[in-house]
Amino acid sequence: MTSILNCSEVDAGYTRGRPCVRDFNLDVREGEVLTLLGPNGAGKTTVLLTLAGFLPTLGGTVEIAGKAVRTGDGCAAANAGLALVPDDRSLFTSLTVEENLRLAVNSRKAWSAERDSILGHFPSLRERLKVQAGALSGGEQQMLAIGRALAQHPKVLLIDELSMGLAPAIVERLLPVLRTVADDTGTAVVFVEQHVQLALAVADTAIVLRHGSIALRGAAAELAENPRLVEEAYLGAHDAAAVPDGAPAQGLIA
Ligand SMILES: Nc1ncnc2c1ncn2[C@@H]1O[C@H](COP(=O)(O)OP(=O)(O)OP(=O)(O)O)[C@@H](O)[C@H]1O
Ligand SMILES: [Mg+2]
Repeated sequence: MTSILNCSEVDAGYTRGRPCVRDFNLDVREGEVLTLLGPNGAGKTTVLLTLAGFLPTLGGTVEIAGKAVRTGDGCAAANAGLALVPDDRSLFTSLTVEENLRLAVNSRKAWSAERDSILGHFPSLRERLKVQAGALSGGEQQMLAIGRALAQHPKVLLIDELSMGLAPAIVERLLPVLRTVADDTGTAVVFVEQHVQLALAVADTAIVLRHGSIALRGAAAELAENPRLVEEAYLGAHDAAAVPDGAPAQGLIA
């Protein structure tokens, strides 16, 4: 499969000269699903905001399909094929589901086909089309936010905190949609998720970020079989030594 997103030696953060993410390297192929894991404050959101052009890189390059993306330019990133579902979902809460989707679909002509394609992934939204986004359940709001991003036909779909405020049962229903989108359309998916085992079950590849550096990178299936490795990457090897074998630190490996 062709490389679609490439980050090389990216430094990211909020103050020039003081990156909170350092030397971030990434190569994601078409149709690949990558989960970006790590403890609070590790820099996951910072990475996604940087990739989506909402923060300028403090060093390094980001390429989509071999072309450098202009840094700190959300429009350039969107035009290059990056779409971000932010952790707050950023829906227009006073607009209906249909209106939220319509705003994301470029062509008026293609509207009904686009709508049906999105509703194919999230059938329960069909009967909610006339409902204000703010009146949806958390799970429905996340479906709408992902659907709106898919309407842009991104080459790379970025999702921050997929499961924020959602019951694990809802997350288990949403995650396979990401797999289907990647498999059927070749869209690459990079998602941040706190339910580590659920994320590893659907992803091809995983990265654990800790204190702004990549602490672990590997095939998701292999990491799922080695939760201890993931714990060590979260905690740092020294702290992880305090966790007895077979006793995952609470809340870490969901
Ligand atoms: N707007 C900001 N201005 C300055 N520093 C920030 C800002 N947002 C985040 N940071 C800092 O950047 C670092 C990385 O934060 P980031 O939000 O990327 O972490 P995260 O991995 O997404 O954490 P979480 O799991 O809590 O969402 C933290 O030290 C944080 O305090
Ligand atoms: Mg975050």
